[in-house]
Amino acid sequence: MTFLFHSDARRGAIFRDAFAAALPDLPFAMEASSVDPSDVRYLITWTVPEDIGRYRNLEILFSIGAGVDQFHLDAVPDHVQVVRMVEDGIVRMMQEYVVLAVLALHRQMPAYLASQKKGSWQPLAQPQAMERRIGVLGLGQLGEAVLERLKPFAFPLAGWSRSARQIDGVHCHHGEAGLAALLASTDILVCLLPLTEETRGVLNRDLFKRLPAGASLVHVGRGPQLNDDDLLAALDDGHLSGAVIDVTDPEPLPADHPFWPHPKIILTPHVASVTQPETAARAVIDNIRRHRAGLAPVGLVDRRRGY
Ligand code: NDP
Ligand code: OXD
Repeated sequence: MTFLFHSDARRGAIFRDAFAAALPDLPFAMEASSVDPSDVRYLITWTVPEDIGRYRNLEILFSIGAGVDQFHLDAVPDHVQVVRMVEDGIVRMMQEYVVLAVLALHRQMPAYLASQKKGSWQPLAQPQAMERRIGVLGLGQLGEAVLERLKPFAFPLAGWSRSARQIDGVHCHHGEAGLAALLASTDILVCLLPLTEETRGVLNRDLFKRLPAGASLVHVGRGPQLNDDDLLAALDDGHLSGAVIDVTDPEPLPADHPFWPHPKIILTPHVASVTQPETAARAVIDNIRRHRAGLAPVGLVDRRRGY
C-alpha cells in the first residue's frame, strides 16, 4: 500500500515529512518509476496521468488544487474516489485576494491607475460601502469564506449556488430565478464557481446585461467560464466599469491578448490562491485516516455534477 505524490519536489518534500510523522506505516513515493503500480492506493496530482489504468488498486485520486476540472474524469475508473483539495491555506489566500480585488474596484483603482498614467489629478465621487452590493457566484468553501471576510466592511452581501443555502448576513439565492435576482442587485460580481458543463461560458453578454450599469467583475473561478469578447464589449461600451481577472483561457494569456493593455482590467496570472503544502498535507492525512475508518473523505467530488 503506497501514497504516490505526483507534483513538484518542493511541496513533495513537505508532504513526505508530514506523512513520515503522521502515517509511518504508509510508504510514500515521489517517483512513479520507483513503485510497483499495483501497490499505489492513493495518488495526489494536478493532472491525471495517461497511464492511470496501471494503478489498478487505486482507491483515492486527490487533486493538489481546489478544482478538479483539469481531471478528465472519464479516464478515471469508477471505483476510484476523486477528492478536491479542501485546506486552510487555499481559503486564506482566496480571502485575501477577493478582499483586495473588491476593495480595488470599490475604491475605483482602475480609474486612478489610468489617471496616474496620464498625470491627471482627478478625484472621483466615492460611493460608500453600504451602497455597493457584492454578489458571489458559488457558495462553496471559498465563496462562503470570502463573504465571511467581507462582512466587516458593511457591503450588502449576496450569493448564488445550485442548491438552497443559508449564511448569516448573506442574502442567498439559488437556481435560475435566483441568478436573475442576484444579478439585478449586484454592483461587484465575484465568480467562484467550479468549471463544469453548466458553468462554461456563464460570464457572457446576457449575464453582463442583467447587472446594473457601472457594475464590475472579479473573476477567480476558471478561464473558460468567461467570454472574453463579451467582457471587452461591456467594458468598452461603459456598461461595466472594471474587472479584476485572475484566470484566463488559455493560461498563460498570449502576449497580444487585449486584456493586457486594457485600462479597466487588472490582470493577475492565476495566483489568487495556491495550495499550501503544510496545511494541505495535514488535510490529506486526515482524509486518509477518514478513509481507513470507513468515512467519506472531505472534498469528495460528485462525478455526475463535476465538482
Ligand atoms: P465548492 O465545490 O466548495 O463550491 C462550489 C460552489 O459552486 C457551490 O456553492 C455550488 O453550489 C456552486 N455551483 C456549482 N455549479 C453551479 C451551478 N451550475 N449553478 C449554481 N451554483 C453552482 O468549490 P470551492 O469553493 O472549493 O472552489 C470553487 C472554485 O474556485 C474551484 O472549483 C476553482 O475553479 C476555483 N479556484 C480558483 C483558484 C484561483 O487561484 N483562481 C484557487 C482555488 C480554486 P452548491 O452549494 O449548491 O453545490
Ligand atoms: C486550484 C487552483 O484549483 O489553483 O487550487 O486554481
